[in-house]
Order: sequence, then structure tokens, then C-alpha cells
Amino acid sequence: MALLRVEDLTIDFRTLRGIVHAVKHVGFELDRGEILAIVGETGSGKTTVGLSIIRLLAPNARVVSGRIWFDGRELLELPEEEMRRIRGREISIIFQEPRVSLNPVLTVGEQLMEIPREHMGVSKQEAYQMAREMLRKTGMGDPDRVMRSYPHELSGGMAQRVMIAMALMLRPKLLIADEPTSALDVTVQAQVMELMKQLVREVGSSVIFITHDLALAAEFADRVLVMYLGEVVEQASIYDVFYRPQHRYTRALIQAIPRIGFRGRLKPLEEIDW
Ligand SMILES: Nc1ncnc2c1ncn2[C@@H]1O[C@H](COP(=O)(O)OP(=O)(O)OP(=O)(O)O)[C@@H](O)[C@H]1O
Ligand SMILES: [Mg+2]
Repeated sequence: MALLRVEDLTIDFRTLRGIVHAVKHVGFELDRGEILAIVGETGSGKTTVGLSIIRLLAPNARVVSGRIWFDGRELLELPEEEMRRIRGREISIIFQEPRVSLNPVLTVGEQLMEIPREHMGVSKQEAYQMAREMLRKTGMGDPDRVMRSYPHELSGGMAQRVMIAMALMLRPKLLIADEPTSALDVTVQAQVMELMKQLVREVGSSVIFITHDLALAAEFADRVLVMYLGEVVEQASIYDVFYRPQHRYTRALIQAIPRIGFRGRLKPLEEIDW
């Protein structure tokens, strides 16, 4: 059975200028351990889908229709208290700008330790060890120093590594990563994506990777869902999306990719023998 099944999800926003139909009849499944990319241009509804799964939509949002099945439960019907337990422990989310999500007045260590302290009730020493080990896994050279740092003392890449450590610390079944590397420069972006991929494999989390960058999706994900104006216009394996795109918009996205962006994961057509 799939870990996540989204059925007929339709979401509107009430605004001063009327109703915005942000998400229209979206449906998809995500298997355990699978990485699914949601790709689409700005305003296509990607973040709205992600936030609805973790139930953090803005107050002016209205779920018009839909069901979100996660590991045997229907999330849209769960009481908020139960949802709060799932958030962070079973589903976690990483946003584009890490420093916005970090608390500026607490050290990295304090923020990391809070997670196992709150969700697992471990001692301070144990929490410190868990936090330090997780930071070490993100490739941070001197984890003890990073533990003592405040968010403003970190580079963008380091801050996003801290966010990844936080998000994966409790080994969530699902990680939603919403443009996790868009704020980073290109070389750091590649390193952070590689690290994230390695860690989610180790932890065994499924991932919804939200991006406007189809080339990045191709490198990172198993499957792609292409959104356009709130609708899913294409849903297929990486291979099929690139070599058998069904929708005109997907073809336009592919054409917009500079060839150099592939870094070897996708071979040119003539080299593929399957
Ligand atoms: N809180 C809100 N109030 C009103 N409209 C909203 C709100 N949040 C999103 N929208 C609208 O819903 C639509 C989908 O927005 P969403 O943020 O999901 O797009 P996106 O694909 O994540 O875009 P981006 O790539 O820019 O992050 C857009 O038209 C957006 O303006
Ligand atoms: Mg978005």
C-alpha cells in the first residue's frame, strides 16, 4: 500500500479580489522510500499541495474536496492534536529559506535538542548526542562548534544542512522539501541536494520534492508530477517525462533546460537501450 494517497484535492483561497482556485482535483500516490518531485512554474499550486498534507495552510484557504491518506489515516479529518504529533515526528517539512524557520535567539544545538527532548522525552545528554550525530551526518566539519552557533552565524548552505538535520532527526516517514535549495548558489545547491538524497535513503523517508527546476527533479526524484495552473498535467517516471512527455507544458519545461544541467544522470536518447 502506498504511504500517501492524495485524492481529488481541490483548494481555494479567499482573497479581497475574489476566489483563487489554487489546486484543482489533484491526485497522486507516493510509495515508501520513493522520491516524488512536484514541478511547475510559480503559482501553479505546488506549495499549497505540500502545506495541505502537513495541514499548515493559511487561514483563508478552503479545502473544497479531497482526501489525504497517510499510512492508514485520513489527515484532513484528524483532530489538530493528533496532527501535531504527526507533524515533525512522521511528516516533516523544509522550506526554501532556512533562516526564516530557525529561531534567531536560540543556538543551533538548543533547537536541535528540543526535537528529541519533546518527542521522545530523552535526557539532555542523549539529546545532545543525537543532535551532534545528526549534524555530523550532514557533513558539518565541526559539529560541536555548529551546535554552539546562532543561526545568523551560519552560511546559507550550513543553515539548510541544519534544517535537514532537524527534519530527519526523528526519521519521519515523509519529508516535504519545498524548494530546499533555491536560495543557495549553484555549487552549494548540488552539495545540499546530494546530502539530502543520501540521508533520506539512510533514514528510509519518502520525499515530496517541490521545485520549479525539472533538471534538478530529474537528478533527485524517481517520479515527477507536473503541475500547471493548479492541475496535474503529467505524472510519470523521470524517464517517461523526458522521453515521452504527454503535455505541451511539460515539453516546454524540457526545452527550457540547459543541456549542461543534467550532470550525466540522463543519457542522450541514442545511448539508452531499454
Ligand atoms: N494565502 C494565500 N492567499 C491567497 N492566495 C494564495 C495564498 N497562497 C497561495 N495563493 C495563491 O494560490 C496559487 C498557488 O500558490 P502556490 O504558493 O501553491 O504556488 P507555487 O507553485 O508554490 O508557486 P512558487 O513556485 O512561486 O512557490 C497562486 O495563485 C497563489 O497566488
Ligand atoms: Mg511555492
